Amino acid sequence: MNKLIVSLLLTVGISGIAHAAGDATAGQAKAAVCGACHGPDGNSMAPNFPKLAGQGERYLNKQLHDIKSGKRTVLEMTGLLTNLSDQDLADIAAYFASQKGSVGAADPKVVARGEALFRGGDLAKGLPACTGCHSPNGAGNAAAGFPHLGGQHAQYVAKQLTEFRKEEGGRSNDGDTKTMQTIAKRLSDEDIAAVSSYIQGLH
Ligand code: HEC
Ligand code: HEC
Repeated sequence: MNKLIVSLLLTVGISGIAHAAGDATAGQAKAAVCGACHGPDGNSMAPNFPKLAGQGERYLNKQLHDIKSGKRTVLEMTGLLTNLSDQDLADIAAYFASQKGSVGAADPKVVARGEALFRGGDLAKGLPACTGCHSPNGAGNAAAGFPHLGGQHAQYVAKQLTEFRKEEGGRSNDGDTKTMQTIAKRLSDEDIAAVSSYIQGLH
């Protein structure tokens, strides 16, 4: 009985990872054009261009499909994914996922507040701890598609949280459960600044 449940869960889990399996070696060549903004190995230098190195493959693949279809708007990438197939996107996702992500530094002035929010949430606001899904060291949960956050540029993270928080026209591609939209609505500007800075130094 237990074995049956386990194998059922495994089947559901595996089929939940949609699309073709990615080939990181093939992905490297296909990702050449991305390096101008995201860095050749996915460690971008500019704080508004997200780091992709070490990001979960499933999450990357989902974002690429969402950006290509227009579910998530990234003006800088307009037209870039149009001619890429599902296999190309899977290969590129596999390539960046296989790279090692770099880490930045947190602002010492706000790190305590950021850490408290990330690790404990805020009971009074009904805010869950970020660690529940993004893990205590910010590595996320690759199999579940919860993104890796540790070391990500604070400016990019703050922009995403602000976009998730918008009533309309913001980032709304977080599925039917609207997890991040619900969470971001409970964050003040100060919360966003603190937790984003904390994430930049987290590893
Ligand atoms: C001209 C600059 C530019 C180029 C070239 C570019 N991107 Fe992006 N990309 C961006 C920006 C800016 C964002 C973040 C937009 C935002 O703030 O939401 C982004 C976001 C992403 C994200 C989402 C990251 C996350 O953490 O959610 C992925 C994945 C991505 N890009 C992949 C690619 C791939 C693959 C290529 C090459 C085919 C590429 N990008 C080329 C600028 C660029
Ligand atoms: C219940 C699970 C859950 C919790 C708790 C959670 N997140 Fe998320 N988060 C997600 C998922 C799932 C996504 C990806 C959404 C998508 O698919 O586009 C995400 C995406 C993000 C992103 C965008 C990452 C990127 O690369 O663009 C940021 C930033 C983020 N979360 C920050 C936080 C912070 C800060 C907290 C705590 C205040 C938090 N999250 C709590 C599940 C969660």
